[in-house]
Amino acid sequence: MNLQLSNELLHRNQQVIPGGLASINRKADPCIAFARALGSRMWDVDGNEYIDYHAGFAPYILGHNDPDQNKAVIDAMTQLRSNYGSGPTSDEGELARLFLSCVPSAERVQFLNTGSEATAQAIRVARAWTGNDHVLRMQGSYNGNHNMVASNVMSTKEQLGGRQIIGDEYPLAPLTAGIPGAERTLMHSVEFNNLEAVENVARRYKLAALITEPVLQNVGIIKPRPGYLEGLRRLADQYGFLLILDEVKTGFRSVPGPYHAARGIDPDLSTYGKAIANGFPIAALAGKARFMDLVTSADPHKRVLIAGTYNCHPVPVAAAIACLRKLTDPALNVYAKLESLSTRLELGVRRLMVDHNVTATFVRQGSAHCTYFMPTAPANWWEALSCHDFAFDTRYRRALIERGIYQFPVAAKQGSISFAHSEADIDQTLEATDSALTELQQSPLRVGV
Ligand SMILES: Cc1ncc(COP(=O)(O)O)c(C=O)c1O
Repeated sequence: MNLQLSNELLHRNQQVIPGGLASINRKADPCIAFARALGSRMWDVDGNEYIDYHAGFAPYILGHNDPDQNKAVIDAMTQLRSNYGSGPTSDEGELARLFLSCVPSAERVQFLNTGSEATAQAIRVARAWTGNDHVLRMQGSYNGNHNMVASNVMSTKEQLGGRQIIGDEYPLAPLTAGIPGAERTLMHSVEFNNLEAVENVARRYKLAALITEPVLQNVGIIKPRPGYLEGLRRLADQYGFLLILDEVKTGFRSVPGPYHAARGIDPDLSTYGKAIANGFPIAALAGKARFMDLVTSADPHKRVLIAGTYNCHPVPVAAAIACLRKLTDPALNVYAKLESLSTRLELGVRRLMVDHNVTATFVRQGSAHCTYFMPTAPANWWEALSCHDFAFDTRYRRALIERGIYQFPVAAKQGSISFAHSEADIDQTLEATDSALTELQQSPLRVGV
């Protein structure tokens, strides 16, 4: 495929931006420069067309440039909304009411700009409430870019000490340099789906919070075992830390609300971003009034600062209102369509893997999905690390991209289907998958069933 202009653009940008792009996680091989997108399709600067399953790291649940959402944004500007930076706005109140009507576990919400801000503020609230400093996370859960959570996601076996750790914490595997030593001592990560480890860490340290994605969706799709999330709730109550469910990726992706609501779990706080605004930059921290109201606590030692120049900027607010209205519109039945398309893809991919004699497990949470090249679905990152064929996955993604199907070219990243995808898109994807598998099977690198 011709990526000449993509390569030139990256090279030009590298003269002025470290790495050549604005978020280093966007750098992958091939590093394609996209120029425009509509619905389920994207076009790169060389003119290649793709059906998009990356969805900008998952926010696009309605599809790119949704016309109703774009109209709402343009209307907000032509009606001269501005980011006044003083006093409340009626739009932020409307958004809060609409949002909370979808999140039964929460009584209050604050809007921020990014998921990372939401998780940082959630941890701050938990520390203010408990008076404790330690924070527990799950190996394989991504919770943002700030110090307290920037560790232990797609860690290597070497970083984890070369063995799976059940019942205790993993070594710290930072995602970034620059985390002060004092903060490192407060960060703990344990294996997902292992309650014993949570309990042991909770006994040893004064935990302010446990923060995790309820389904690990930054290392493919790793689901909680039955009883696991309930167990986290029980341990939070027993040891007095706050349970923060990070729904930045899971929220509004498989149901019109948080994943935890569908599972009957009651977190203290939960965080959102991505699908709540179909690609516009807005995020949310939601939770019980007693925690959220610390923002206005009369006690200066408990009062939490949640403030930001761009919080509830009118453009993303208009985008979020338009998005949530569509996601909750019974006439559109967005989630039924997503389910039907996702099932079509799942059944098709499963059939092709069997036909091509490839050991694979297709895991799906609503419209989010991942194909692991291993016999069963992983229950934690260590199982994926040990059993998933990363090299084959990388080649599979590349072969799909060459056939116009854009899955992010990093092994074990999730794909997302949007409301704008069609059955024809899925069928075209399956044809490309068939052809990609035929090509890959001719390679001696693949170990079959
Ligand atoms: C579960 C989860 N939490 C937090 C974040 C951070 O969000 P942002 O990139 O908007 O800061 C992400 C981003 O991918 C995420 O997937």
